[in-house]
Amino acid sequence: MSEDAAVNESRWRVPLSDIVVDDELVDAVLETVRSGWWSMGPRVAEFEQEFAEFCGARHAVAVANGSASLHLALLAVGCGPGDEVIVPSLNFVAAANSIVHTGAEPVFCDIVGPDELNLDPGDVEAAITPQTKAILVLHYAGFPCAMDAIADTADRYGLVVVEDAAHAPGASFHGRMCGTLGRVGCFSFFSNKNLPVGEGGMILTGDDELAKQLRLLRSHGMTTLTWDRHRGHASSYDVVLPGFNYRLDEVRAVLGLVQLRRLPEENEARGRIAARYREALDGTGGLTMPFGVGGEDRISSNHLAVVVLPKGFDRAEVRGALDAKGIQTSVHYPPIHTFTQYRGAAQRRALPQTESIADRILTLPLYGRMDDEQVDAVIEAVLTAI
Ligand SMILES: Cc1ncc(COP(=O)(O)O)c(C=O)c1O
Repeated sequence: MSEDAAVNESRWRVPLSDIVVDDELVDAVLETVRSGWWSMGPRVAEFEQEFAEFCGARHAVAVANGSASLHLALLAVGCGPGDEVIVPSLNFVAAANSIVHTGAEPVFCDIVGPDELNLDPGDVEAAITPQTKAILVLHYAGFPCAMDAIADTADRYGLVVVEDAAHAPGASFHGRMCGTLGRVGCFSFFSNKNLPVGEGGMILTGDDELAKQLRLLRSHGMTTLTWDRHRGHASSYDVVLPGFNYRLDEVRAVLGLVQLRRLPEENEARGRIAARYREALDGTGGLTMPFGVGGEDRISSNHLAVVVLPKGFDRAEVRGALDAKGIQTSVHYPPIHTFTQYRGAAQRRALPQTESIADRILTLPLYGRMDDEQVDAVIEAVLTAI
């Protein structure tokens, strides 16, 4: 069987995530390929403009992936050797790695608890030292953090807030979009995200100087782009800082443009499925579904459907039972402080809430095109397993 056939014939009756492939996307890609201009150019600029407008941000800077967005955002706000960055341990490891790549040190903080797996503003404050430079918040599963409390702490201590909004395009806090609530907001467009392009990322900021810095860092610190020179707008360039090649290309930008227009519908469909999970599963047999809090003030993008298993349950057994029925599950995430690389972190702190749910969290399938039969199959399999 070819690799393509293997993808389509996947053994999962219900995969963890899935993407829509249709003629509109294929045509947009073909048209871009036929244009003869593949590296960063007009489609990237259009994607940046539309994403900024969608989020209500002043500037959007497209980058190669979400990890690059975190790395550049942290560098641009001035994180470096001798600094500490407070970050929840219940997180994707890119967060800690990006901090380390700036020369700063991650200081892990706890989550609120089993009902809200976002970072705990009280524990953020407890983690502050004279070395603290920034707070890197994660809107876990697409549910907005308590940004008012975080902003208040940041103001009192003179800290920078960077948002990891990889899960949260279209999510909002008191009517403002995630990614525009801190000094800088970072997004990932990896294939399993709400806005998938394969590999891609975006950085938002309202600060003109920061946006300029981010654009320079994205492309080797060069003052003009190949696209500018191709159009005859420049014939040379200067280099003003040691940057990176973190550019996005045109093919992925055009995928992003199509996917952005579909994002509200995708998020709504995810919301309906998450609500069905909640109704059927939350509180049943001791299982809970976090993030039943917030109301209209905190609108989730429903990136992940996470449940917390009752104490004493063997998660591997539950996963095995779902696997046997063709239902793919995952764990978001093994806490970063438990990995070999970060176990010995000098700033190791007690994280009781994170540790109390680490072996009990389970991510169920969630994607907009899931049909009723698939949702029913997941619900029934979970109820049987517990
Ligand atoms: C919370 C979070 N942060 C950062 C990233 C990194 O994004 P990317 O995979 O696009 O580098 C991801 C994506 O997997 C993520 O889920």
